[in-house]
Amino acid sequence: MFYSDDIIEEIRSRNDIVDVISGYVKLQKKGSSYFGLCPFHNEKSPSFSVSQTKQMYYCFGCGAGGNVITFIMEYENYSFQEAIKYLADRCGMSLPKADENEVSKKQQSERKILLDIQKTAAKYYYYLLGQPQGKQGLNYLTGRGLSKETITRFGLGYSSKFGNDLYKYLKSKGYSDALLKESGLITFDERKGAYDKFWNRVMYPIMDVNNRVIGFGGRVMGDGTPKYLNSPETKIFDKSRNLYGLNFARISRKPYFIICEGYMDVISMHQAGFTNAIASLGTAFTSPHASLIKRYVDEVYLAYDSDGAGIKAALRAIPILKSAGLKIKIIHMDPYKDPDEFIKNLGRDAFEERIGKAENSFLFEISVLEKSYDLNDPQGKTDFFNAAAKKMLEFNQELERNNYIEAICRRYGIDFKDMQKLVNSYGARIGYVEKSDPERAFEPAKSIKKPVKEEGILTCQKLLLTWLVEDPSLFPKVEKYISYEDFLDPVYQKAAKLLFDEYNRTGKVTPARIMNQFEDKEEHNIVASLFNTNLYDSTDKNAKEKALNEAVIKIKKHSIDHISKNAKDIQTLQAVVKARASLQTLHISL
Ligand code: CTP
Ligand code: MN
Repeated sequence: MFYSDDIIEEIRSRNDIVDVISGYVKLQKKGSSYFGLCPFHNEKSPSFSVSQTKQMYYCFGCGAGGNVITFIMEYENYSFQEAIKYLADRCGMSLPKADENEVSKKQQSERKILLDIQKTAAKYYYYLLGQPQGKQGLNYLTGRGLSKETITRFGLGYSSKFGNDLYKYLKSKGYSDALLKESGLITFDERKGAYDKFWNRVMYPIMDVNNRVIGFGGRVMGDGTPKYLNSPETKIFDKSRNLYGLNFARISRKPYFIICEGYMDVISMHQAGFTNAIASLGTAFTSPHASLIKRYVDEVYLAYDSDGAGIKAALRAIPILKSAGLKIKIIHMDPYKDPDEFIKNLGRDAFEERIGKAENSFLFEISVLEKSYDLNDPQGKTDFFNAAAKKMLEFNQELERNNYIEAICRRYGIDFKDMQKLVNSYGARIGYVEKSDPERAFEPAKSIKKPVKEEGILTCQKLLLTWLVEDPSLFPKVEKYISYEDFLDPVYQKAAKLLFDEYNRTGKVTPARIMNQFEDKEEHNIVASLFNTNLYDSTDKNAKEKALNEAVIKIKKHSIDHISKNAKDIQTLQAVVKARASLQTLHISL
């Protein structure tokens, strides 16, 4: 770590979490906590809670959580060190220099300079667009129907005809050749020297969720090739973790995003009022993209090009989006090629109508599948229905599967029972078992139990840790039976150890401080969930006591089972037997 634990803790405790978050989110007091609309996903009713006593926040909707440092990291997209600096500034603390580790300090400032270079370049391209030499670029963009406001909002620009214009400009600002090379904007060649990557193109700055320019796409004005050039990936530009337009879409307060293929589609869509449109950055859609989207919305509409390439891209994206838990619909653009052309020809209302008529993604996949069979031929028709039946096995839930079988049967005029029989026969053939439990009907036989059990034990562990945090007087009673080693997950275990240690050292616990020991944002979310589980909210003492004992027994039993499974010697096995026996008499009274 870059700063000492004490300094980090001082900065954390000097920045009251309610104060800080109130600057970003409208909070209302409810009971002992504050609630507001979560800034990390789209929601209509508040599930984002901030606790003054715990100095932590936690969203019951999306699971985002942490202390004040995590919040600044997540909201401002800062690294841990950047968040510490920001919060130190905020409370007027000066940070000691001596503690700084040279390597990471250098990396930090390098990132900052790289961001600076992109911003400077973006401003320069934007400036050129307004100059006489940028006239052609401006004409091109306005010729494509973009208004002045849209051009400004997206920061569109123009790169000059001279091959090293930007290089000269950036040099005049004092940037080193080494960092200019890293920025991806300048290419260095032994013979030709330094020259700009982009020249004589209209420029589309690519921004991260916090409106910081991290790269560019550049388009030829007309029909030249390549149509687009894109910045290469750099230390600050990761194409699979950023999406074009996300900085605007995330605050659009719409419950879904519209995914388009191109920069121009996104810009046209936003200009027409669809500010929830996004696109990937000249690369295929990946699962980090899908998880990124899932942080904000639960549903996406695909507005891909209507040509073969667009359909292929949609078919590739659907399973990726689905496995992130997103619902997907397909917007049909015919007879136009893409959203940009559609809107230009038919306007906003017509597009709105197409959103209303968007097709369920499974039915879309079936429509595409259908095209590779000749339905006029009995064999072709049979083959198609068999392929469709096989595909139906994607649905684990019987009710859902039946709804799809019904939709397909209606569409192709076949009998429900026939199709259902066919689907079931495929289900049996690939080793799936039909169970009476409709949720599990088509899950593979072996893996049914395990994940459910795992989930249950983690919930118990969260419950117990939250309980201890809210009522530290329980520590002595619980510690008789449970130690941090009973928490098997590494993050859980580390958090539990810190918690027990702190209690034993000081007689109290500060969960927000414990969080300082985790640097990774994902870990912060997990730790926040450990200390912010919904407690059994009952005034009935007996019921509470029962819940607590159940949780403790489950945790202990799970841990003993684990030891027993990995036991290699007789002593361990004997200890296991003893531990199991003592479970019988375990009881904590409140
Ligand atoms: N793309 C790219 N390089 C190319 C062509 C396309 O990186 N040579 C990427 C760009 O991100 C582009 C997207 O793929 O936005 C979709 O391509 P296309 O539909 O051809 O671009 P549009 O944005 O629709 O551009 P325009 O309307 O200006 O033709
Ligand atoms: Mn286009």
